[in-house]
Amino acid sequence: MTPIEKLLLENKAWAEEVKSDDPAYFERLAHLQTPQFLWIGCSDSRVPADRITGTQPGEIFVHRNIANLVIHTDVNLLSVLDFAVNHLKVNHVIVCGHYGCGGVKAAMTNHDFKYVLNMWLRNIKDVYRLYNDELEAIPDMDKRADRLAELNVKEQLLHLAKTSIIQRAWKYDRRPHLHGWIYGLKDGLIKNVFEMEPGAGLDPLYRYDDL
Ligand code: CO
Repeated sequence: MTPIEKLLLENKAWAEEVKSDDPAYFERLAHLQTPQFLWIGCSDSRVPADRITGTQPGEIFVHRNIANLVIHTDVNLLSVLDFAVNHLKVNHVIVCGHYGCGGVKAAMTNHDFKYVLNMWLRNIKDVYRLYNDELEAIPDMDKRADRLAELNVKEQLLHLAKTSIIQRAWKYDRRPHLHGWIYGLKDGLIKNVFEMEPGAGLDPLYRYDDL
């Protein structure tokens, strides 16, 4: 059996198991999606949003990319954010990074990763530059990468708050709450790094006053 055939076989077994536990399960989910959470996480295969939070299909709306970045020209991410905030009306947006993040580590090197990856990782280098003094004071490179992963989560949360999507929802709906989390690959635990309540302070330059 090829690995791909195994995936499809496992899928069949899973669907049978779910149906035998709860015969109306798929019928119910097919008609309704009301997640309360938008998850913006790393694409890393070791950080599955639903598994590590004990949530079921239908509970978390998910967007993942390398190193969980929120980039204000990323139409993919912004479409997910717009849909989650304005149509699904989620109450919480979570940016979840993780320790030992390969994207973060790659951004700390001077290696040419070619083409598109250089462009993507540039965004993490910009975070490094912002916290250069704090990071350069950490001699252990793994610890430094872990601290950069935390600071990266904070910066991406600020990027969310800079969007008119979030600012408009804050103004008219007093939601969503923004949560910056970091997941530990070694212990499976999530730590809170940074959070922003609706209307939280933001550099005035980024605030829209005529929404
Ligand atoms: Co990662």
